[in-house]
Amino acid sequence: MEAAPFDIVIERGTVVTDGSSRDAAVAIRGGRIEALVDPGEATQLAAARRIDASGRLVMPGGVDPHCHVGIAVGAYTTLDDYASASLAALAGGTTTIVDFAIPATQGGDPLAALDERLALAAQSRCDYAQHGCITSAGIDVAATVRALAERGLRTIKLFTTYRGILMVETDTIEAVMTALRDVGGLAYVHAEANDLVEAAQREADAAGRIDAGGHAGTRPEDAEERAVADVLAAAERTGAPVYFVHQSTPGAIELVTRARRRGVAAFTESCPHYLTLDDGRYRGEHPERYVCCPPLRSRATVDALADRAVQGLVHAVGSDNCCYDTRQKTERADDVREMPNGLPGVETRLPIVFNRFVASGRMAPERFVAMVSTNPARLNGLYPRKGTISAGADADIAILDPRETRTVVIDNLHMPTDYTPYEGQSVTGWPTTVISGGVVVVDEGRLLDPGPVGRFVPASPIEADAVPSEE
Ligand code: URP
Ligand code: ZN
Ligand code: ZN
Repeated sequence: MEAAPFDIVIERGTVVTDGSSRDAAVAIRGGRIEALVDPGEATQLAAARRIDASGRLVMPGGVDPHCHVGIAVGAYTTLDDYASASLAALAGGTTTIVDFAIPATQGGDPLAALDERLALAAQSRCDYAQHGCITSAGIDVAATVRALAERGLRTIKLFTTYRGILMVETDTIEAVMTALRDVGGLAYVHAEANDLVEAAQREADAAGRIDAGGHAGTRPEDAEERAVADVLAAAERTGAPVYFVHQSTPGAIELVTRARRRGVAAFTESCPHYLTLDDGRYRGEHPERYVCCPPLRSRATVDALADRAVQGLVHAVGSDNCCYDTRQKTERADDVREMPNGLPGVETRLPIVFNRFVASGRMAPERFVAMVSTNPARLNGLYPRKGTISAGADADIAILDPRETRTVVIDNLHMPTDYTPYEGQSVTGWPTTVISGGVVVVDEGRLLDPGPVGRFVPASPIEADAVPSEE
């Protein structure tokens, strides 16, 4: 009896996954990767659809470890929802997003926040996971962490800043870390020392520089670095692993690197904007569009941060997607304490990072794939279902053309906002075909909405050595 044909065979491409590359065909059936086959044998595989990936990289679909969807902070809510954010993700080669179940009010119930997120996520076009979020000491931390783990959440976001909204003190961070350690979990920390931020904001206010144009001065580098040092000390005391979101300075990364050498399981995430854009944007025509926390840094800092990524010291790159539009960003641009923070970017994460590092010849494609897909999958307990092209994994694949150059224009993107931080930039390296759960969702550049088929992916325990040192 003849074997049933595969649903899809991707042939003649270079498969880049798990630290190596090889010419191979990928055979897909029933939403899963069934086999990698040597090029010579690929022609013998019967398939309902064959995709010719000649000259292109066949990589695991991007996993965005830091993607806010419809986030409400203060007076502003981002303009995307699960339908639009997940479609933008797919268009940009990302097939799994990890959002944050942030309680609506400080001290609110993290489990109720999760219920709300999951109800909204029913509209997702791509698979998704969630980080829990604890914003108060006034809950039973251990019981909450256990309950979240039972529901498939093993990462919990903690903020050392945004006083009165999200911020928690070090004793709460330690309590959460201890509880996470016992369930194979990982604390995701936004580290900026709030007292230093508030002092800088007061100074800026007195000097008449509290508007968007003065943003860089309101959140200094040492605020980030002191908080990273404090949180690393907490990780050391508790013996728990820790992941720093959106690191923006080489000094912060150096602290993590040194802690890893001492045996602390510490991980670094940065974002495309910190690796490419500098604080000159705050002196330009639309400073408000670039207001994010931490802020964009000086060119010297941006380039030194990029050097650390090249050295393998940045483990993951998240978008920190916050889909505000210019109107929302402008309304209170007179005062950065009142205006919405964050940049849209779920769709541009892969091309911006590829362009910066691989197209420029500074980084091997394998390291790029590790930063945007495999490591985020590992550091969210999603590997090997996500983040790899191997038998048994979900058939989530981005076929990226390393030579395709496009000028970034918001009108050609799918995020529901009126701007991109990369407008007008020439970028080389775009996903041209994307497969999600075995379904072609971008077909040679054409986005095909698969409908609300996205699934919640529960997290498995996360290993302390989830990501090897690459120094
Ligand atoms: O400016 C930022 N990053 N806004 C989003 C919320 C956060 O801090 O991650
Ligand atoms: Zn943050
Ligand atoms: Zn964020």
